Amino acid sequence: MYKILRTLLFLLDAEKAHGVTMKMLSTASKISVFRFLIKKLYAFDSNVLHKKVFGIEFKNQIGLAAGFDKNAEYIDALALLGFGFIEIGTVTPKPQDGNPTPRLFRLKKDEAIINRMGFNNKGVDAVIQNLKGVKTKDIIIGGNIGKNKNTPNENAIHDYTFCFERLYPYVHYFVINVSSPNTPGLRELQEKKPLTEIINSLVTLRKKKQEQKPILLKIAPDLTVEQMNDIVEIVNETQLDGLIVSNTTLDRTMLTTNETEVNTIGAGGLSGKPLLQKSNEVLKYFRQKTNKPIIGVGGIHSSQDAQDKINNGADLIQLYTGFIYEGPGLVKGILRGL
Ligand code: FNR
Repeated sequence: MYKILRTLLFLLDAEKAHGVTMKMLSTASKISVFRFLIKKLYAFDSNVLHKKVFGIEFKNQIGLAAGFDKNAEYIDALALLGFGFIEIGTVTPKPQDGNPTPRLFRLKKDEAIINRMGFNNKGVDAVIQNLKGVKTKDIIIGGNIGKNKNTPNENAIHDYTFCFERLYPYVHYFVINVSSPNTPGLRELQEKKPLTEIINSLVTLRKKKQEQKPILLKIAPDLTVEQMNDIVEIVNETQLDGLIVSNTTLDRTMLTTNETEVNTIGAGGLSGKPLLQKSNEVLKYFRQKTNKPIIGVGGIHSSQDAQDKINNGADLIQLYTGFIYEGPGLVKGILRGL
């Protein structure tokens, strides 16, 4: 059924298709008979799939990756599709429009996406209003935080601490995003000094809280070995609770799509099938170097891909592009195979 819907949706501009799909799902989820049907079709609950990671009890290991529901507008609807957790954001202190459209492109031949959204989001206060309205009780929500485009890197720490403080009561774990390729200069914050400062300032704020919520770091798959080793040291020396490996890549070498088409699309982060191997290699590297939990993300389009991520050391996994190409049945398919 999803294949037919996908054919129609793929006739639309990619960003419009996302909006239309989410509106349809959200409307359906508010009508009890549809809610029942969606759950029946897609949810797959089983006690054996529960997993405790960084102190949180997840009902299953599959999450929706950041960027899909940036403003926490669709949590109740998405929760019906069987995810064990949903990561919202990237959220910035102030609302921002992101880059000019078009900024989201499908590479159908490669089952991939290139995006240069640029942290379009409604800002942390609007996101909190949406989180206050979430009705689903057993869904774990991650808060992925970033900096506004206009905030210079030397002040980035304020944006991260601001979002952290504000979101603290409303999410279960945090993700420091310094790995999006679409905010100029952001990836420079992956360097040892600024990154350590950001992590330590969040850890200091957390110490004052009653409940200690996990803080994770999301990294790019394009790091040099030296940068990866710096991050290993940071992971092992700070009170960071884990990693998310990985964000989208700037690499285009694994694509089979015609080079002219790829060049016409231009800048952006590549996700989907071509990212699988690269993100798995980075995952394996970090798995060997740290015992802290890792969420594996990048290129999962099948049950086998999910199993490979877990075999490579992921404690939890997330999807984005595979969910667009394969549809919501992918979550159930993976859960059945675990
Ligand atoms: C993303 N991703 C992303 N990640 C993040 O940390 N913050 C964000 O705002 C976004 N936004 C975003 C938008 C779009 C359109 C896409 C396709 C992706 C990255 C995403 O969470 C994930 O790390 C990568 O897409 C790799 O996983 P998949 O898509 O290959 O399963």
